[in-house]
Amino acid sequence: MARMTGKRTTAATNADGQQEPPPLPRRFGLTANGYGSLSRQFPSTPRGARLARRTVVRQLGYWGFGPMTDASCSVALVVAELAANAVCHGRLRGRNFHVRVDYEGPASRFRIEVSDAVLGRTPEHATLPPEDQESGRGLFLVECLATKWGWEPRNPIGKIVWAEVAAGPPAGGA
Ligand SMILES: Nc1ncnc2c1ncn2[C@@H]1O[C@H](COP(=O)(O)OP(=O)(O)O)[C@@H](O)[C@H]1O
Ligand SMILES: [Mg+2]
Repeated sequence: MARMTGKRTTAATNADGQQEPPPLPRRFGLTANGYGSLSRQFPSTPRGARLARRTVVRQLGYWGFGPMTDASCSVALVVAELAANAVCHGRLRGRNFHVRVDYEGPASRFRIEVSDAVLGRTPEHATLPPEDQESGRGLFLVECLATKWGWEPRNPIGKIVWAEVAAGPPAGGA
């Protein structure tokens, strides 16, 4: 006889009669020692940049950092700014940009990498521009949210702009 565990593992029907997927186990997708990794390419368009941010927020939710947590908000902002820069300043026709986010549970930290195909132009100093200037605040924001950030050439072409963000405890405990 099957034992009842109280956990739902198969599809269930909601109040509207629609099938819901089974709930994901808490902290889904992490290794036993607390590491997780997301790696994906996105089209070099504003829509691709938005999709990158949403994809990362969803993945952090699986790792135990819901969209209202400080960690998720910080990572989402950093990814949004770096992705916007890859699309605006690092776009090469026909090339995607690439996002990688690693969660390192034991160090309580996220490492974010956004790669594009252009090396001729690179990120410039992260200072606050004059008040009446509309652009130029993205890297300043990254500087505020990240414990460190930088960029390096990427093999075979382009560059990787990276940032590290403190994770804090995941919702529901480590
Ligand atoms: N991925 C990138 N590729 C090339 N240049 C970049 C990249 N990211 C940033 N930069 C350079 O650094 C500058 C500052 O970036 P940022 O602070 O985000 O301001 P903004 O994007 O509004 O110009 C950009 O104007 C651009 O010259
Ligand atoms: Mg920018």
